[in-house]
Amino acid sequence: MRTATPVIREKTEGDTAACLDLLTRVHARDGYPLHLAPGDLPGFFRSAHERAAWVAEQDGVIVGHVALHCPPEDPTLTVAAEATGLPSARLALLARLFVAPELRRTGLGRALVRHATAQAPAWGRRAVLDVGQTLPSAIALYESEGWSRAGELHLHLDDFDPPINLDLWVYMSPAAA
Ligand SMILES: CC(C)(COP(=O)(O)OP(=O)(O)OC[C@H]1O[C@@H](n2cnc3c(N)ncnc32)[C@H](O)[C@@H]1OP(=O)(O)O)[C@@H](O)C(=O)NCCC(=O)NCCS
Repeated sequence: MRTATPVIREKTEGDTAACLDLLTRVHARDGYPLHLAPGDLPGFFRSAHERAAWVAEQDGVIVGHVALHCPPEDPTLTVAAEATGLPSARLALLARLFVAPELRRTGLGRALVRHATAQAPAWGRRAVLDVGQTLPSAIALYESEGWSRAGELHLHLDDFDPPINLDLWVYMSPAAA
């Protein structure tokens, strides 16, 4: 049976369980998200700052996810604001990007990044992001899309037990032509 090309569409409430199933598989394989234990994964989709999120769907199955977050302040935005010269209110965080393991290197991650990045200017914002320094696939993807490194961030999360250190690169999307 032929499989259809994945379609990117806005995420709905009804997608929550399927997104969590997919993230659980990604977490087991890639260790992403870096700072969460499996039991904490449901909270990953409950950001108060999520302004939009999209899923990729293939034959009725969720195979990818990406979001844009617009927090009023955030350490990543502070680094990106300095590098871009734009205030936080003119930036949007590309976040929660992941693709089903069986569809890797088929261009879906690139399509999701492009989709989310293209939305930010419609809000008067430029897309930026942070990425774990231990995630080479994601770093390669962003750099292949022309994103440039804005700086780095070392977070010490002491509300976790045990506390967690996160070493991140901050990237900015290509400036509008
Ligand atoms: C990062 C991720 C989303 C990439 O998704 P993907 O669908 O495999 O990426 P694409 O097929 O669109 O790849 C686009 C380009 O990125 C680069 N790239 C992606 N994966 C790569 C890898 N494993 N090694 C080297 N380059 C890679 C390549 O330049 C690739 O182009 P090419 O295949 O023509 O050479 C996916 O690996 C993933 O879900 N990883 C786990 C979650 C994660 O790390 N999320 C990022 C959070 S910041």
